[in-house]
Amino acid sequence: MTDVDVVVVGSLNLDLVVRSQRIPGAGETISGSEYAEYAGGKGLNQAVAAARSGASVAFVGNVGDDEAGERLRSIVRAEGIDDARLHTIDGMATGRALITVDDHGENSIVIVPGANGAPLHGDLPRGRVFLAQLETTVAGVRRAFEHARSIGATTVLNPAPAVDLPGELLGLCDVVVPNEHEVDLLGGRTALSGRVEHVVVTLGSAGADHVNDTRTAHIEAFPVTPVDTTGAGDAFCGALAGRIAAGDEMDAALRFAAAAGALATTQPGAVPSQPRLAEVQRLLSA
Ligand code: RIB
Repeated sequence: MTDVDVVVVGSLNLDLVVRSQRIPGAGETISGSEYAEYAGGKGLNQAVAAARSGASVAFVGNVGDDEAGERLRSIVRAEGIDDARLHTIDGMATGRALITVDDHGENSIVIVPGANGAPLHGDLPRGRVFLAQLETTVAGVRRAFEHARSIGATTVLNPAPAVDLPGELLGLCDVVVPNEHEVDLLGGRTALSGRVEHVVVTLGSAGADHVNDTRTAHIEAFPVTPVDTTGAGDAFCGALAGRIAAGDEMDAALRFAAAAGALATTQPGAVPSQPRLAEVQRLLSA
Protein backbone atom coordinates (compact mmCIF):
# COMPACT_ATOMS: atom_id res chain seq x y z
CA MET A 1 0.00 0.00 0.00
CA THR A 2 1.38 3.44 -0.91
CA ASP A 3 1.65 6.02 1.86
CA VAL A 4 -0.30 9.24 1.35
CA ASP A 5 1.46 12.46 2.37
CA VAL A 6 -1.05 13.51 5.03
CA VAL A 7 -3.74 11.60 6.94
CA VAL A 8 -6.23 14.00 8.54
CA VAL A 9 -8.20 12.65 11.50
CA GLY A 10 -10.94 15.14 12.15
CA SER A 11 -14.31 16.82 11.94
CA LEU A 12 -16.54 18.03 9.13
CA ASN A 13 -19.20 20.67 9.71
CA LEU A 14 -21.72 22.55 7.71
CA ASP A 15 -20.96 26.15 8.70
CA LEU A 16 -24.02 28.40 9.07
CA VAL A 17 -22.54 31.87 8.89
CA VAL A 18 -24.06 35.23 9.75
CA ARG A 19 -22.28 38.52 9.11
CA SER A 20 -23.03 41.37 11.50
CA GLN A 21 -21.35 44.61 12.45
CA ARG A 22 -20.28 43.16 15.77
CA ILE A 23 -20.64 39.96 17.77
CA PRO A 24 -23.68 40.22 20.09
CA GLY A 25 -23.34 40.00 23.86
CA ALA A 26 -25.33 37.70 26.17
CA GLY A 27 -29.07 38.35 26.01
CA GLU A 28 -28.71 40.70 23.05
CA THR A 29 -30.49 40.54 19.66
CA ILE A 30 -28.94 42.38 16.72
CA SER A 31 -29.52 42.40 12.95
CA GLY A 32 -27.05 40.77 10.60
CA SER A 33 -26.34 41.75 7.01
CA GLU A 34 -25.74 38.38 5.26
CA TYR A 35 -26.27 34.65 5.73
CA ALA A 36 -24.31 31.90 3.96
CA GLU A 37 -23.59 28.17 4.29
CA TYR A 38 -20.07 26.85 3.72
CA ALA A 39 -18.25 23.57 4.11
CA GLY A 40 -16.15 23.65 7.27
CA GLY A 41 -15.04 21.79 10.35
CA LYS A 42 -11.43 21.97 11.50
CA GLY A 43 -10.63 18.55 10.05
CA LEU A 44 -12.07 19.23 6.60
CA ASN A 45 -10.54 22.73 6.43
CA GLN A 46 -7.10 21.34 7.28
CA ALA A 47 -7.44 18.45 4.82
CA VAL A 48 -8.34 20.88 2.03
CA ALA A 49 -5.45 23.19 3.00
CA ALA A 50 -3.01 20.27 2.83
CA ALA A 51 -4.43 19.04 -0.50
CA ARG A 52 -4.34 22.52 -2.05
CA SER A 53 -0.72 22.89 -0.93
CA GLY A 54 0.09 19.90 -3.13
CA ALA A 55 -0.12 16.96 -0.70
CA SER A 56 -1.97 13.68 -1.26
CA VAL A 57 -4.47 13.42 1.59
CA ALA A 58 -6.66 10.72 3.19
CA PHE A 59 -9.47 11.65 5.58
CA VAL A 60 -10.58 9.74 8.69
CA GLY A 61 -13.87 10.94 10.18
CA ASN A 62 -17.65 10.72 10.33
CA VAL A 63 -20.64 12.42 8.73
CA GLY A 64 -24.32 11.81 9.44
CA ASP A 65 -26.76 10.13 7.05
CA ASP A 66 -28.26 13.44 5.92
CA GLU A 67 -28.04 15.84 3.00
CA ALA A 68 -25.24 17.84 4.68
CA GLY A 69 -23.17 14.67 4.99
CA GLU A 70 -23.56 13.93 1.28
CA ARG A 71 -22.66 17.52 0.44
CA LEU A 72 -19.49 17.42 2.53
CA ARG A 73 -18.45 14.02 1.15
CA SER A 74 -18.77 15.32 -2.39
CA ILE A 75 -16.49 18.26 -1.46
CA VAL A 76 -13.93 15.85 0.01
CA ARG A 77 -13.95 13.93 -3.29
CA ALA A 78 -13.85 17.06 -5.44
CA GLU A 79 -10.68 18.13 -3.62
CA GLY A 80 -9.07 14.79 -4.54
CA ILE A 81 -9.02 13.64 -0.88
CA ASP A 82 -9.38 9.89 -0.22
CA ASP A 83 -12.78 9.37 1.48
CA ALA A 84 -12.53 5.58 1.97
CA ARG A 85 -12.42 6.09 5.77
CA LEU A 86 -15.03 8.84 5.91
CA HIS A 87 -17.86 6.89 7.55
CA THR A 88 -21.56 7.68 7.33
CA ILE A 89 -23.21 7.11 10.72
CA ASP A 90 -26.83 5.98 10.49
CA GLY A 91 -29.32 7.96 12.53
CA MET A 92 -26.93 10.82 13.31
CA ALA A 93 -26.78 14.37 12.02
CA THR A 94 -23.70 15.82 10.36
CA GLY A 95 -21.81 18.38 12.48
CA ARG A 96 -22.91 22.00 12.36
CA ALA A 97 -21.14 25.22 13.30
CA LEU A 98 -23.03 28.43 14.03
CA ILE A 99 -20.66 31.27 13.20
CA THR A 100 -20.93 35.04 13.54
CA VAL A 101 -18.37 37.14 11.64
CA ASP A 102 -18.02 40.85 12.45
CA ASP A 103 -16.91 43.82 10.35
CA HIS A 104 -13.26 43.21 11.28
CA GLY A 105 -13.42 39.60 10.09
CA GLU A 106 -13.29 38.25 13.67
CA ASN A 107 -15.64 35.40 14.56
CA SER A 108 -17.38 33.54 17.34
CA ILE A 109 -18.28 29.87 16.81
CA VAL A 110 -20.58 27.34 18.49
CA ILE A 111 -20.29 23.78 17.22
CA VAL A 112 -22.82 20.96 17.50
CA PRO A 113 -20.67 17.85 16.92
CA GLY A 114 -23.32 15.37 15.74
CA ALA A 115 -21.51 12.53 13.93
CA ASN A 116 -18.10 14.07 14.74
CA GLY A 117 -18.69 12.88 18.32
CA ALA A 118 -19.19 9.22 17.29
CA PRO A 119 -16.24 6.83 17.78
CA LEU A 120 -13.70 6.71 14.96
CA HIS A 121 -13.60 3.04 14.08
CA GLY A 122 -12.24 0.89 11.29
CA ASP A 123 -8.74 0.46 9.92
CA LEU A 124 -6.36 3.38 9.52
CA PRO A 125 -4.41 4.29 6.39
CA ARG A 126 -0.65 4.63 6.03
CA GLY A 127 0.73 8.15 5.72
CA ARG A 128 3.86 10.25 6.27
CA VAL A 129 2.17 12.83 8.52
CA PHE A 130 -0.90 12.39 10.73
CA LEU A 131 -2.76 15.63 11.51
CA ALA A 132 -5.60 15.89 14.07
CA GLN A 133 -7.63 18.44 16.02
CA LEU A 134 -10.04 17.97 18.93
CA GLU A 135 -13.52 18.24 17.40
CA THR A 136 -13.61 14.42 17.25
CA THR A 137 -13.09 12.08 20.20
CA VAL A 138 -9.75 12.23 22.03
CA ALA A 139 -9.78 8.41 22.07
CA GLY A 140 -9.94 8.35 18.26
CA VAL A 141 -7.05 10.80 17.93
CA ARG A 142 -5.02 8.77 20.38
CA ARG A 143 -5.61 5.52 18.45
CA ALA A 144 -4.63 7.25 15.20
CA PHE A 145 -1.43 8.67 16.71
CA GLU A 146 -0.48 5.29 18.22
CA HIS A 147 -0.88 3.81 14.75
CA ALA A 148 1.14 6.72 13.28
CA ARG A 149 3.96 6.10 15.75
CA SER A 150 3.92 2.37 14.95
CA ILE A 151 4.57 3.10 11.25
CA GLY A 152 7.13 5.88 11.88
CA ALA A 153 4.88 8.75 10.75
CA THR A 154 5.11 12.31 12.11
CA THR A 155 2.19 13.44 14.28
CA VAL A 156 0.83 17.00 14.33
CA LEU A 157 -1.90 18.01 16.81
CA ASN A 158 -3.89 21.23 16.66
CA PRO A 159 -5.43 21.13 20.19
CA ALA A 160 -8.58 23.03 19.20
CA PRO A 161 -11.07 23.46 20.67
CA ALA A 162 -9.16 23.36 23.96
CA VAL A 163 -9.98 20.36 26.16
CA ASP A 164 -8.16 18.68 29.02
CA LEU A 165 -5.66 16.44 27.26
CA PRO A 166 -4.42 13.14 28.66
CA GLY A 167 -0.62 13.16 29.05
CA GLU A 168 -0.44 9.97 26.97
CA LEU A 169 -1.77 11.83 23.92
CA LEU A 170 0.76 14.66 24.27
CA GLY A 171 3.45 12.00 24.53
CA LEU A 172 2.44 10.80 21.05
CA CYS A 173 2.81 14.25 19.42
CA ASP A 174 5.82 15.46 17.43
CA VAL A 175 4.35 18.89 16.71
CA VAL A 176 1.62 20.73 18.65
CA VAL A 177 0.03 23.88 17.19
CA PRO A 178 -2.06 25.73 19.83
CA ASN A 179 -3.16 29.37 19.83
CA GLU A 180 -2.33 31.58 22.83
CA HIS A 181 -5.45 30.56 24.74
CA GLU A 182 -4.91 26.84 24.11
CA VAL A 183 -1.23 26.90 25.08
CA ASP A 184 -2.15 28.39 28.47
CA LEU A 185 -4.70 25.63 29.05
CA LEU A 186 -2.01 23.08 28.23
CA GLY A 187 0.22 24.46 30.99
CA GLY A 188 2.15 27.15 29.06
CA ARG A 189 4.90 27.11 26.47
CA THR A 190 7.71 26.01 28.75
CA ALA A 191 5.85 23.03 30.19
CA LEU A 192 4.57 21.99 26.78
CA SER A 193 7.94 22.27 25.07
CA GLY A 194 9.34 19.95 27.74
CA ARG A 195 7.01 17.23 26.43
CA VAL A 196 6.73 17.88 22.69
CA GLU A 197 9.61 18.46 20.26
CA HIS A 198 8.01 21.32 18.31
CA VAL A 199 5.50 23.74 19.86
CA VAL A 200 4.11 26.27 17.40
CA VAL A 201 2.00 28.99 19.03
CA THR A 202 -0.17 30.82 16.49
CA LEU A 203 -0.65 34.51 17.27
CA GLY A 204 -3.19 35.59 14.63
CA SER A 205 -2.12 38.79 12.88
CA ALA A 206 1.09 38.81 14.97
CA GLY A 207 2.46 35.65 13.27
CA ALA A 208 3.58 32.61 15.24
CA ASP A 209 6.29 31.44 17.64
CA HIS A 210 8.16 28.17 17.20
CA VAL A 211 9.44 26.82 20.52
CA ASN A 212 11.95 24.01 20.12
CA ASP A 213 14.00 23.03 23.23
CA THR A 214 14.95 26.38 24.70
CA ARG A 215 14.98 28.31 21.41
CA THR A 216 12.00 30.42 20.34
CA ALA A 217 11.90 31.58 16.71
CA HIS A 218 9.31 34.11 15.62
CA ILE A 219 7.53 33.69 12.29
CA GLU A 220 6.43 37.04 10.90
CA ALA A 221 2.85 37.45 9.74
CA PHE A 222 2.17 38.38 6.11
CA PRO A 223 0.30 41.70 5.95
CA VAL A 224 -3.16 41.23 4.38
CA THR A 225 -6.57 42.86 4.76
CA PRO A 226 -8.81 40.30 6.49
CA VAL A 227 -12.48 39.85 5.56
CA ASP A 228 -13.09 36.61 7.51
CA THR A 229 -10.60 34.90 9.82
CA THR A 230 -12.62 31.63 9.98
CA GLY A 231 -10.40 28.72 8.97
CA ALA A 232 -7.14 30.72 8.98
CA GLY A 233 -5.65 28.61 11.77
CA ASP A 234 -6.73 25.53 9.84
CA ALA A 235 -4.99 26.80 6.70
CA PHE A 236 -1.83 27.19 8.79
CA CYS A 237 -2.04 23.63 10.22
CA GLY A 238 -2.98 21.91 6.95
CA ALA A 239 -0.29 23.70 4.96
CA LEU A 240 2.29 22.99 7.68
CA ALA A 241 1.49 19.26 7.61
CA GLY A 242 1.65 19.24 3.82
CA ARG A 243 5.07 20.88 3.76
CA ILE A 244 6.46 18.64 6.52
CA ALA A 245 5.32 15.64 4.47
CA ALA A 246 7.06 17.15 1.43
CA GLY A 247 10.32 17.14 3.40
CA ASP A 248 10.67 20.88 4.12
CA GLU A 249 12.74 22.00 7.12
CA MET A 250 10.54 23.39 9.94
CA ASP A 251 11.53 27.02 9.25
CA ALA A 252 10.48 26.82 5.59
CA ALA A 253 7.33 24.83 6.38
CA LEU A 254 6.31 27.44 8.99
CA ARG A 255 6.82 30.35 6.60
CA PHE A 256 4.67 28.57 4.02
CA ALA A 257 2.02 27.90 6.70
CA ALA A 258 2.01 31.56 7.77
CA ALA A 259 1.45 32.65 4.17
CA ALA A 260 -1.40 30.14 3.76
CA GLY A 261 -2.99 31.32 7.01
CA ALA A 262 -2.80 34.96 5.95
CA LEU A 263 -4.36 34.25 2.54
CA ALA A 264 -7.24 32.32 4.15
CA THR A 265 -8.35 35.50 5.94
CA THR A 266 -8.83 37.35 2.65
CA GLN A 267 -11.81 35.24 1.48
CA PRO A 268 -15.12 34.44 3.18
CA GLY A 269 -15.93 30.95 4.42
CA ALA A 270 -13.76 28.16 5.81
CA VAL A 271 -13.20 25.56 3.05
CA PRO A 272 -13.64 28.11 0.21
CA SER A 273 -10.92 30.34 1.70
CA GLN A 274 -8.18 27.67 1.77
CA PRO A 275 -5.48 28.94 -0.61
CA ARG A 276 -3.91 27.02 -3.49
CA LEU A 277 -0.20 26.31 -3.89
CA ALA A 278 0.35 28.96 -6.59
CA GLU A 279 -1.26 31.70 -4.47
CA VAL A 280 0.91 30.81 -1.47
CA GLN A 281 4.04 30.74 -3.63
CA ARG A 282 3.14 34.15 -5.06
CA LEU A 283 2.79 35.66 -1.58
CA LEU A 284 6.04 34.03 -0.44
CA SER A 285 7.97 35.51 -3.33
CA ALA A 286 6.27 38.93 -3.27
O1 RIB B 1 -11.68 26.55 12.58
C1 RIB B 1 -12.84 26.97 11.92
C2 RIB B 1 -13.87 25.89 11.97
O2 RIB B 1 -14.27 25.73 13.32
C3 RIB B 1 -15.15 26.19 11.22
O3 RIB B 1 -15.11 25.77 9.89
C4 RIB B 1 -16.21 25.49 12.06
O4 RIB B 1 -16.82 24.42 11.42
C5 RIB B 1 -15.50 25.06 13.34
O5 RIB B 1 -15.21 23.73 13.33
